[in-house]
Amino acid sequence: MLKGKTIVVGVCGGIAAYKVVDVVSRLRKQHAQVHVIMTEHATRFVAPLTFQSLSNNPVVTDMFAEPKTWDVEHISLARKADMMLVAPATANIIGKVANGIADDMLSTVIMATTAPVLFVPAMNYAMYENLVVQENISKLERFGYRFMEPDTGVMAAEGESGKGRLPEPEKIVQEVLKTVTVDQDLKGRRILITAGPTREPMDPVRYISNHSSGKMGYALAEAAAGRGAAVTLVSGPVNIQKPENVSTVDVTTADDMLEAVLARQADQDIFIMVAAVADYKCASIADKKIKKTQDRFTVEMVKNPDIAKEIGKIKGNRILVGFSAETNDLESNARSKLDSKNLDMIVANDVTQEGAGFGTDTNIVKIIRKDGTINEFPIMSKLDVAREILDEINKLMVNG
Ligand code: PMT
Repeated sequence: MLKGKTIVVGVCGGIAAYKVVDVVSRLRKQHAQVHVIMTEHATRFVAPLTFQSLSNNPVVTDMFAEPKTWDVEHISLARKADMMLVAPATANIIGKVANGIADDMLSTVIMATTAPVLFVPAMNYAMYENLVVQENISKLERFGYRFMEPDTGVMAAEGESGKGRLPEPEKIVQEVLKTVTVDQDLKGRRILITAGPTREPMDPVRYISNHSSGKMGYALAEAAAGRGAAVTLVSGPVNIQKPENVSTVDVTTADDMLEAVLARQADQDIFIMVAAVADYKCASIADKKIKKTQDRFTVEMVKNPDIAKEIGKIKGNRILVGFSAETNDLESNARSKLDSKNLDMIVANDVTQEGAGFGTDTNIVKIIRKDGTINEFPIMSKLDVAREILDEINKLMVNG
């Protein structure tokens, strides 16, 4: 499966380093070329000779060692890599990369590579849950670095139980396979994504809106662009960074969003409607600030256009994916939206669940297909949810 692929494995100083010996051996059995970089601390846990014998390549530990070739070694490894695997990823290496520090061979190669990087954190559970570590992980995920969730269980060193164990080698190799093989599978596809909230003005200073932060839609845009798709992101007003290599169109109201989507729809192969579009808008917008002269105040509202439904009418064979934000009857409400909007697939999230829906970095979703089949997912980062959705879209394109 990995024939012709070069995997650079970064091993950090943690007790779980011994498990990475098995990972390297399994990667070699899959015919990958493996180059191991060890931090100085890692060499205290496992001898470089072990990795050298298994990978059949010299192990790199020192930035300033005598060069074995005329290549600048960190640049050469960074270029050679089809992907980098960092395991066990300690709080230290995560913190360094998140803050732009490149002070040893491993951090320098990570910084210099354009290949996908998969971190597999393993550390004491209290360290893993530390907000500084979590913030660093979120930051790196936003920049496109991949993370595997640690396992929960008894820690090798402390004998205590918690989340922070290195996943079993078999699982790590599966994730490596996923990272390397899905890399550019959306090349040549054109995807339009709507994201964020819409704002419906009442007067020059007020509007009606919702809690959408744009994180879910932006994660999809980033993941799709990373897999080679040409992505157009039609975004309501949000306060997050625009993804790289994505063409973003800023809009405010549902009417603006409809206009932007319709103007670009003819060029698209796939539509993913993540935006929380206001269902209603004010029947009239006051041209001056409304004064508080009355005890009760009623706003008359009229229905907004349904953007997903409009695309559903004209999509032909193209793929249309919707989202469904629910507080009750998740599946039945989502299924009726799937039918009424002529969607191929709907991603349902119960926004009352902790870690799901608006504003969070994670989501908990069910993907419901037109044929009625459902995939349920546990809590995951929005980027991982995005990857699962794109995998489903890929299957739809292959199998129809
Ligand atoms: O942005 P985040 O903070 O990351 O939050 C993510 C999210 C909760 C917004 C996202 O996961 C989500 O559930 N998005 C859909 C929200 C929603 O409004 O769903 P809905 O059930 O009202 O709409 C169903 C579908 O029709 C959606 O695909 C929606 O984009 C689309 N729609 C709805 C109304 C409308 N007038 N036009 C539409 O296109």
